[in-house]
Amino acid sequence: MTASPALDSALAVPATPPVAAEPENLAALTRPDFPLLAQTACLGQPLIYLDHAATSQKPRQVLEVMRHYYEHDNANVHRGAHQLSARATDAFEGARVKAAAFVGAASPREIVFTRNASEAINLVARSWGEANLRAGDEVLLSVMEHHSNLVPWQLLAARTGCVLRHVGLTETGELDLDDLRRQLSERTRLVSLVQVSNTLGCLNPIARIAPLAHAAGALLLVDACQSLPHLPVNVAALGADFLVGSSHKLCGPTGMGFLWAREALLEAMPPFLGGGEMIQDVYLDHSSWAELPHKFEAGTPAIGEAIGMGAALDYLSALGLDRIHAWEQMLTRQLFDRLQAIEGVRILGPTPEQQPDRGALASFTVDGLHANDIAALLDSAGICIRSGHHCTQPLHRLYGISGSARASLGFTTTPEEIDRFAEELKGTITFLREHS
Ligand code: ALA
Repeated sequence: MTASPALDSALAVPATPPVAAEPENLAALTRPDFPLLAQTACLGQPLIYLDHAATSQKPRQVLEVMRHYYEHDNANVHRGAHQLSARATDAFEGARVKAAAFVGAASPREIVFTRNASEAINLVARSWGEANLRAGDEVLLSVMEHHSNLVPWQLLAARTGCVLRHVGLTETGELDLDDLRRQLSERTRLVSLVQVSNTLGCLNPIARIAPLAHAAGALLLVDACQSLPHLPVNVAALGADFLVGSSHKLCGPTGMGFLWAREALLEAMPPFLGGGEMIQDVYLDHSSWAELPHKFEAGTPAIGEAIGMGAALDYLSALGLDRIHAWEQMLTRQLFDRLQAIEGVRILGPTPEQQPDRGALASFTVDGLHANDIAALLDSAGICIRSGHHCTQPLHRLYGISGSARASLGFTTTPEEIDRFAEELKGTITFLREHS
């Protein structure tokens, strides 16, 4: 029996396989929005910013929204009956709605504004941790965590006697899932992990880890500071219980971050800080708390900064996180190609071949040279990279190094900038070798 002509043609292999679409050049699209990146450095050289993992630059759309707020609407929120306060409150609470949509929260009540992601983790450690953890309970972290996901738990351990455990790495510099499975037990009350490491750049498979944590009876906190600016993040798809983010890494202002948590968890958690705004009724000897999320937001909040973050989230959403990720993946492959071709350069973390979705950064050492010297010489050529421990001292110690150099990319990065960085790095290495 022969298949019908229609089926034949449907099953036919095309003569030429479809070519994967080139990612859209987002640098060309967005550079006019970033006046800072148009400046020249010393000797008229173009400034090349490769330190996006430390902080992002801000598009004029964000600066304009903040300027408009201060010029037209500035007032304290949730307090006044007057029109300025009403407008400021609308804009401030509007930013919360945007943050909720950005991470796929069920409700804006699940978004607590904080000063930064560190404060958001401290909030969970103080509030949820002190209320729920007892001596012998375990918190499972990893050796690649940023200090902000280590120190709050160390402080909690000192207060409660809970035990901290740390998942190790594979040979390729990825999270060791076998080790995670080994260390999870009925004693584990919380698993707290970074989604994209700011040093290794690896993308941790949070959606695979969530069911493991939950099956052990633990909650899962995700540090999404280095993932939110670069790829789509959805708290429901991840299966997270807590997630923290940082505005200044998201093209928004500093002094602003947020905690997302499932509403039932936040309802059950005691306040973190006391003061104005977080109360319902205050008596001389006791008080009652405001509704979520205000219960966790004592004092006048960072109003202009929240509104700026809202504008930044609008900007990123309009650009599209899928498009950002595709463009940055191409740039990351180029960055690795160029670095791998330089003798003596050793890159930490998985290569794009080992982990195609890895983060858009490369931390590296150069045999016999100090990362600070490399960064200083590159700076004199107008190229901004980070050197040091990147707030991951235990990880560097594990690799037996005191620090590394790190080039981290953003959607405004151009392929030409990566080539220029690689050429300057080669020259820098030669110079330092000849003069040391
Ligand atoms: N955590 C930021 C970085 O990785 C500051 O540079």
